[in-house]
Amino acid sequence: METRKASSVRLEHLTKMFGAITAVSDVSFEIPAGALVCLVGPSGCGKTTTLRMIGGFEEPTAGHIYIGNQCVDAQPPYDRPTAMVFQSYALFPHMTVYENVSYGLRVRHKPTREIEECVHSALALLELQGLESKSPRQLSGGQQQRVALARALVTEPEVLLLDEPLSNLDAQLRVRVRGEIRALQRQLGITAIYVTHDQEEAFSLSDFTAIMQAGKLIQVGKPMDIYRRPTNTFVAHFVGLSNIVHVEALEVRAQDATVRALDHVIHVAVPPPSRDGKFAVVLRPEMMHLCPADRDGIAARVKTATFLGPLIRYVVVTGAGLELTVDVTNPTAEQLFSEGTAVAVHLPDQVPGLLAV
Ligand SMILES: Nc1ncnc2c1ncn2[C@@H]1O[C@H](COP(=O)(O)OP(=O)(O)OP(=O)(O)O)[C@@H](O)[C@H]1O
Ligand SMILES: [Mg+2]
Repeated sequence: METRKASSVRLEHLTKMFGAITAVSDVSFEIPAGALVCLVGPSGCGKTTTLRMIGGFEEPTAGHIYIGNQCVDAQPPYDRPTAMVFQSYALFPHMTVYENVSYGLRVRHKPTREIEECVHSALALLELQGLESKSPRQLSGGQQQRVALARALVTEPEVLLLDEPLSNLDAQLRVRVRGEIRALQRQLGITAIYVTHDQEEAFSLSDFTAIMQAGKLIQVGKPMDIYRRPTNTFVAHFVGLSNIVHVEALEVRAQDATVRALDHVIHVAVPPPSRDGKFAVVLRPEMMHLCPADRDGIAARVKTATFLGPLIRYVVVTGAGLELTVDVTNPTAEQLFSEGTAVAVHLPDQVPGLLAV
């Protein structure tokens, strides 16, 4: 299958109410053509509802959806240039693989010859040749998942919508299939919106990650930017372990700032998010070091030490009672601390950003 036509997707003030419940609240953003965007957030935050509105399976209470330059508000799912892969695969159990994959073309009354060609090439793309006459029951989870993808791709959508497509697979297979989905999306050049509640999956797959909480879109950005500069404490905690340490602003300049955290002076690469108010730095566990107590650093005591294979995760408590999580990778002999040991915590001299708290 050759490169497809890709379209941008624009959501304008999209809102969905279910009775008194606001499932999606005033969500606006634009996905560039050919990009893969992950929609991520805790259970119930409105990810599936957002995706279903884009696919036409749910009618927005307010707002508009554009695919390319076209407003698709009034179009039913089968008229939209979208295809959706549902969380539970949703293969038709009484149909063979061939019948499942050809379904979208048959309901569109395509000629038999064209159906055969398209199904053949979709099955080849997903390496499912030879399984045409099997029923879904006879397939492994990974194969069923690929059939679900073939069924979505066979209609040549401009936008592929995926709702937690890997949740039924075990951890190893999940990592492999997500790599396959990414490669396929790049190969076809189509736009994709991928819902997951797994931030690692989102970061590893996406060009842009969009974080939702309680129906609202909280932050959209490149994965590394979101990790380095979360806009609030929810995002900071959602995308990895964070130590959030309140700071005192020493100097605020147009381009950057100097702050003090735990008696340590830190340079911030960008100015604070606002002129007034309170700020904090996000100190990721890998941004700090632990040394024996006689070295320079913040005096603390080891509360717990957990061996995690590639690293040791220490929770230490400072003299002021603040708990910090510090990861030590590849520890030297003098960085092996037992619980109760006095240590010195070395903070970074610079951080990428500040949080308003
Ligand atoms: N058909 C419906 N009728 C009533 N309420 C609904 C309906 N669908 C979703 N909701 C509610 O809307 C909110 C958002 O649901 P949604 O399924 O979009 O969340 P989600 O982010 O996909 O969650 P999960 O990660 O658990 O799949 C929830 O409070 C949910 O209970
Ligand atoms: Mg969902």
